[in-house]
Amino acid sequence: MLKTLRLVPIVVAIAASASAQSVTFTKDVAPILQRSCQSCHRPGQMAPMSLLTYQDVRPWARAIKQRVMDRTMPPWGIDPHIGLQSFKNDPTLREDEVEKLVKWVDAGAPMGTAADMPKAREFDDSDRWHIGKPDIIVTSPKHVVPAEASDWWGSYYVNTGLTEDRYIKAIESKPGNTAVVHHLLTYAVDAEMGDSNGDDSNGDAGEFLNEFAVGKNGDLFPEGSGRLLKAGSKIKFDFHYHSVGKEMTDQSQLGIVLYPKGYAPKHVVYSKQLGQPTEPLDIPGGSTYVRSDGYTRFNKPGKLTAFQPHMHTRGKRQCIELIYPDNKTEQINCADWSFNWHIVAVYSDDVAPIYPAGTVLHVISWHDNSANKANPDARNWVGSGQRTIDEMGFAWITWYDLTDEEYKTEFDARKATGAKRTTNTAPGLQPQ
Ligand code: HEC
Repeated sequence: MLKTLRLVPIVVAIAASASAQSVTFTKDVAPILQRSCQSCHRPGQMAPMSLLTYQDVRPWARAIKQRVMDRTMPPWGIDPHIGLQSFKNDPTLREDEVEKLVKWVDAGAPMGTAADMPKAREFDDSDRWHIGKPDIIVTSPKHVVPAEASDWWGSYYVNTGLTEDRYIKAIESKPGNTAVVHHLLTYAVDAEMGDSNGDDSNGDAGEFLNEFAVGKNGDLFPEGSGRLLKAGSKIKFDFHYHSVGKEMTDQSQLGIVLYPKGYAPKHVVYSKQLGQPTEPLDIPGGSTYVRSDGYTRFNKPGKLTAFQPHMHTRGKRQCIELIYPDNKTEQINCADWSFNWHIVAVYSDDVAPIYPAGTVLHVISWHDNSANKANPDARNWVGSGQRTIDEMGFAWITWYDLTDEEYKTEFDARKATGAKRTTNTAPGLQPQ
């Protein structure tokens, strides 16, 4: 008897602390969804369901738990356990936010008190250019996306009308219809290219310009840096359209702000396909992990500002590393690949890898041609090629060259701060 009595207060104490910590939709979950999910998950946007209200969200609770735990939502891809981890555009949820969402789902997804609900997020007027008034606006041809059809990957080429070489100061891609534009990448290509409108190839060489991603406001190059747009060049619009059960038309735009005539920025920013596989790809039907390697040597010192893997439907994962002239090797990043998402990871200024002349970029890609992978046909042998059903394995790298002097100055400055910004343990040129 005495024993039971003694237990009572303890049980009450536990219950009280559990309720104090209980996680609710209005208090804990809604703020996370507003910041990290609603840019895509609201009516008229690309995601399949809205996550605005409790009623919208409740049926998806278990799917949300799964997608935030396996880190496929929000889409990003960069492996958080390897290499550099400081980006300008990383949408990843923090560990404690993932825990909160999981806890909420495990507790039965309670709504909580209405008074705790934060004010609805207001979304930006999508007609507005975030980069200021563009000097040039290039518009893609009208594309009709049927109510029901498989996804469409393809390119359109449009003239810029530019008659002299100019430098780009800022650039922004703006889809006409965000419900059906899954991704839009833009490239500058030479005048003679692009007679293949509607072709599904991704592989024509070109200068990668800009990517549209939901919630992204365009690229403003740091003062004194910019990208060359050659006279007569064309814009290649590279689309992934997705049907949404209703016929829709899209016509997208690229806006470009130029530096004044005659002005040449100190640093010219390049984006190119680097580290093409050294051997033609040879991926047997049913194979799980086939590796390919590619190498590109940088003849000048430089700073690598962004990384985007590029593979096709058999792509699984890609890693990049730098092999310095003294043969030390440093892992820069690894990213899981999904053909649904083409994501450019932009390094924060203070960690963007710098390297001396003679450094080799090593691109390592893994291809999966097994039945587990969303795969057009796991029985087929797959090789290198331009079509979506062929395979690729290179990286889009954005960088600018430095002089030896600039490289040394920045190297010394980073060393002096002593900040460790990478998970790597091997000594490399990132300050340890
Ligand atoms: C960049 C746009 C974007 C963002 C940001 C985003 N999603 Fe998604 N989400 C999508 C798209 C598109 C799909 C459908 C394709 C897919 O599954 O990859 C999807 C699918 C999902 C699914 C699976 C639905 C199903 O049919 O099973 C869940 C769950 C989900 N998202 C939850 C979230 C959560 C939670 C967040 C925020 C933490 C989030 N998403 C952020 C675009 C986005």
